[in-house]
Amino acid sequence: MKEKLQAIKEEAMKQIQESGTLDKLNDVRVAFLGKKGQLTAVLKGMKDVAAEERPIIGQMVNDTRAAIEKAMEETKKNLEAKAREEQLAREVIDVTLPAKKINVGHRHPNTIALEEVERIFVGMGYEVVEGPEVEYDLYNFEKLNIPANHPAKDEQDTFYITKDILLRTQTSPVQARIMEQGKLPIRMIAPGRVFRSDEVDATHSPSFHQIEGLVVDKNITFADLKGTLEQFAKELFGPETRTKFRPHHFPFTEPSAEVDVSCFKCGGKGCRFCKGSGWIEILGCGMVHPHVLEMCGIDPEVYTGFAFGVGLERIALLKYEIDDMRLLYENDIRFLKQF
Ligand code: DAH
Repeated sequence: MKEKLQAIKEEAMKQIQESGTLDKLNDVRVAFLGKKGQLTAVLKGMKDVAAEERPIIGQMVNDTRAAIEKAMEETKKNLEAKAREEQLAREVIDVTLPAKKINVGHRHPNTIALEEVERIFVGMGYEVVEGPEVEYDLYNFEKLNIPANHPAKDEQDTFYITKDILLRTQTSPVQARIMEQGKLPIRMIAPGRVFRSDEVDATHSPSFHQIEGLVVDKNITFADLKGTLEQFAKELFGPETRTKFRPHHFPFTEPSAEVDVSCFKCGGKGCRFCKGSGWIEILGCGMVHPHVLEMCGIDPEVYTGFAFGVGLERIALLKYEIDDMRLLYENDIRFLKQF
């Protein structure tokens, strides 16, 4: 028995030493100490050992087991350390490699221009509001004094969802929506996307942006409109900027005007930028038509107001001297980064 145990021990030690991997070491453990292992078999054979020898043999089996377990534990530790080292060697990180570049986007010229316009009007106490891009004909045309068959409807040919629902051609319907809410006085701007069935070229796009402005209060006059837009032009294009109000027609304002600013490139002398005229057209405006006030539930005998509409792309193109509107929609980061 003693020799047998000795042989088992030697064989186990040899296999432990040769195991080389944690998996194989576990196989060795099963082969010797497992349920059907060699040492376990010896223990099972104890019943055949003479009673007086049992304690001695029992002790020897335990010693053998302890010796095997100890050797296994040590080998296991060594193998684990080796595995870790190998893993570290495999996963070595070269800290001198250049870092991955994180590409941050850039604000679009439209966004920069819009934030500038918002800053100016918020500074004058205006609220920034929004209206829907899919709009009722009622708000886009009817309540703005543009009845069915009005020629202005042709100029703003658009995309119809149904006979009564369309993609708004202007931000002006937000005027009607806000006035209808009946909270007075009103001092708001409403930026947003508008749509027209225009062909794409350097100055046209089927989808572009406008900023609408509306003030309604008691005693609002054309002088308030002039002063406000003059201040706006000076803040946007520089303190030297002069403004010119040319009579015009819009169905929802009376009187109406188009506003030109003195060319901020040549100061008004005339250059290529202003096509020699010294002036650049920037927006449409006027006093809110009494009929529009009425249709929106406001008494024109008590309240008056002014309104204006600016093309956002127009502002961005002018401010950043971009000569083709299409560049604004390509979203080429090399272009956008310049502003
Ligand atoms: N909605 C007009 C357009 O798209 C622009 C405009 C003109 C807006 C005069 C106004 C205004 O509020 O008073 O052509």
